[in-house]
Amino acid sequence: MIVTIDGPAGAGKSSIARDVAVELGFAFLDTGAMYRAITYGAMQAGVELQDVASLVSYAEAATLTWEDDRIDLDGEDVSDAIRTPMVTSNIRFIADPPEIRGCLTEQQRRIAKGRDIVTEGRDQGTEVFPDAECKIFLTASPEERARRRQLQLIASGREASLEEVLIAQNQRDLEDRMRDVGRLRAASDATVIQTDGMCPEQVKQAVLDTVRCRQ
Ligand code: C5P
Repeated sequence: MIVTIDGPAGAGKSSIARDVAVELGFAFLDTGAMYRAITYGAMQAGVELQDVASLVSYAEAATLTWEDDRIDLDGEDVSDAIRTPMVTSNIRFIADPPEIRGCLTEQQRRIAKGRDIVTEGRDQGTEVFPDAECKIFLTASPEERARRRQLQLIASGREASLEEVLIAQNQRDLEDRMRDVGRLRAASDATVIQTDGMCPEQVKQAVLDTVRCRQ
């Protein structure tokens, strides 16, 4: 069974998807981490970020492996390095060109083949797994998402005003909604879960209820 969870930045997809996968005994795939890792690796390798052909070659040759929360790129643990603002601001060079998306889409389908899996991102229910048995679109208002993100930043020792977080988030939302291929949107057959005012446990239960209805 394939469960796709798509939605905008800060909707809590990663942690909810991970918890739901554990609860169901399914594998879990964080596709944002794949886009992040390729962005980070290409930057480290000095690949010109405007050069799509070189980026495709780089993405095809790169090896990504996972264990629990950890992600390795060509054998190096990049779990923290892929979360820096520098990586986030350059992701569009990897996420926009359809050629690079095609390469990552292929890898995502290979990873999911023959497995029960919860996979989260922006385009999982629309482009990557259009026939998934259960599709969820997890969202919340921009203000609620920015508040959650700010709390995460504070918890990790970084300070940021709500306004700063909201501006950066709006920019990412815009980039994610405008791209030609794989843009952020709910699949027509997705269940939309609006999470404003819900605690993480309530969101998890709502997702699990949706999945169990389709099992
Ligand atoms: O989910 P996360 O915030 O880590 O994703 C980082 C970025 O990677 C997104 O803002 C988006 O631009 C890109 N992405 C994508 N398609 C996916 C997952 C992530 O384009 N399936």
